[in-house]
Amino acid sequence: MASFPPPPVNTIDWSNVGFRVREVNGHIESHYSVSTGVWSPLTFVTDPYIRLHGMSPALNYGQQAYEGLKAFRLPGDDRIAVFRPDRNAARLQHSAAFISIPPVPADLFLAAVRAAVALNAEYVPPHETGAAMYVRPQIYGSSAQLGLSPPEEYTFCVYVLPTGVYHGTHPVRAVIMDEFDRAAPNGTGSAKVGGNYAPVLRWSERARGEGYGITLHLDSRVHEEVDEFSTSGFIGVKEEGGKRTLVVPDSKAVIDSVTSESVQRIAEGWGWGVEKRVIKYAELPTFKEVLAAGTAAALVPIRSITRRVPKTSPQSLAANPSAKDHPRVTFEDGQETVTYIPEGVEDAGEACLALLAELKGIQSGKLEDTRGWRFGV
Ligand code: COI
Repeated sequence: MASFPPPPVNTIDWSNVGFRVREVNGHIESHYSVSTGVWSPLTFVTDPYIRLHGMSPALNYGQQAYEGLKAFRLPGDDRIAVFRPDRNAARLQHSAAFISIPPVPADLFLAAVRAAVALNAEYVPPHETGAAMYVRPQIYGSSAQLGLSPPEEYTFCVYVLPTGVYHGTHPVRAVIMDEFDRAAPNGTGSAKVGGNYAPVLRWSERARGEGYGITLHLDSRVHEEVDEFSTSGFIGVKEEGGKRTLVVPDSKAVIDSVTSESVQRIAEGWGWGVEKRVIKYAELPTFKEVLAAGTAAALVPIRSITRRVPKTSPQSLAANPSAKDHPRVTFEDGQETVTYIPEGVEDAGEACLALLAELKGIQSGKLEDTRGWRFGV
């Protein structure tokens, strides 16, 4: 019998995996019908195209949610582990409730993730590359339904693909979205549904064209509080009186980031402070570092945050006595920028580097996993 896991395939340049879709052996599927009231046993499907009725609510009304997590080849290349899939199982159930899809039981979710990784194990990147297998569970309303009510059938799939990191580790410039609100105050902002992502595409493309790597959303009610980046969670790092503190937004409109929660636990273990609370826009200059945290992105150091707001606006930092003269803040041509990492400096800040090294060390098996975060495959 062949030993598990098989070595990585030699058809991929593992030093340059990138963040794009690559075909693998197949994906896992399970189906739910209202008449049986249960999710069916898992099946392995080699065709990457799934069967959805053209009149399904998934395709017509956005009845769909997804997850993102990662699997790593551990040192010695002879074991594979998935990072904190239990949290993704719970988060998918949270999202499912928003879009009226029956919850996928946690046991089934974990079995599906393990099976999808195991049956594609030769696509888990070699340990030493630092790359990982990205795991993408999805749920849909899949049978035909014309009226706006839940359909009879649902599909749960788990896809996998080898990836590098999404943004890399170079500092990126962020821009605040004032033209577009990602989530309504009592809306779906905390659910990982496609409807929170597709409307952002045109704005993130425009931002990219202007030299910004990432877009940041404020609360949609008054545009005064920080919510999250379009692709990842927000973390501010404070340093006061020799003490470091991570500050994360307390908002009903943000996705509960597993990466952010993990680095919060790591930081607490080091004796750093962790605060989950409302973060006012005017507080941005007081952070020493700002990080974007997500599964695909890991931790991205934010070079600067720009907002297109005239200095005369009450929302401008110029209207805030403690922010207007802050050395991190510059005003120029109807926009203002808070800079954390000056242009020309390509290194992330100290807190980012320390957290990233610990997070990746635990994920990839270089460091001991004292919290039970690695689930063996
Ligand atoms: C992830 O980080 O896993 C996500 O789902 C974000 C996505 C835009 C790549």
